Amino acid sequence: AVERTLSIIKPDAVAKNVIGQIYSRFEQAGLKLVAAKMQRLSREQAEGFYAEHRERPFFKDLVDFMTSGPVVVQVLEGENAIALNRDLMGATNPREAAAGTIRADFAQSIDANAVHGSDGPESAAREVAYFFAEEEICAR
Ligand code: CMP
Repeated sequence: AVERTLSIIKPDAVAKNVIGQIYSRFEQAGLKLVAAKMQRLSREQAEGFYAEHRERPFFKDLVDFMTSGPVVVQVLEGENAIALNRDLMGATNPREAAAGTIRADFAQSIDANAVHGSDGPESAAREVAYFFAEEEICAR
């Protein structure tokens, strides 16, 4: 089915100036950008986005990192977009990410891991709505 998924290019990848290279991976895989924006997340925004991880030991480091510089947030649309984006990203820990994946090629560590992608249909719906109003998403 055609799906939408929420993708974030994290501060490490923005700082490395590889936004375009990451967008190319999405496009070459057949995913379409249907909404996009660059912004610096507030602590409140980052904490709300990652609320499911609030009790995890890495939560403070995660929020510190995600607020350390600008991010680029986008909605990707396409056939099987949620799993396809996860395949393109590779494993959360870049040391475990398969060769040729975004994290293998651009990420440094489990915190500075270049990209976020929704992990399933429910989180995709929640995460897309967290950043974008329906009228900000462009049919194409
Ligand atoms: P992300 O997909 O954005 O979702 C939560 C983030 O927490 C994850 O990517 C990692 O960058 C970060 N993180 C740090 N430590 C861990 C861990 N032990 N397990 C999962 N995620 C972690």
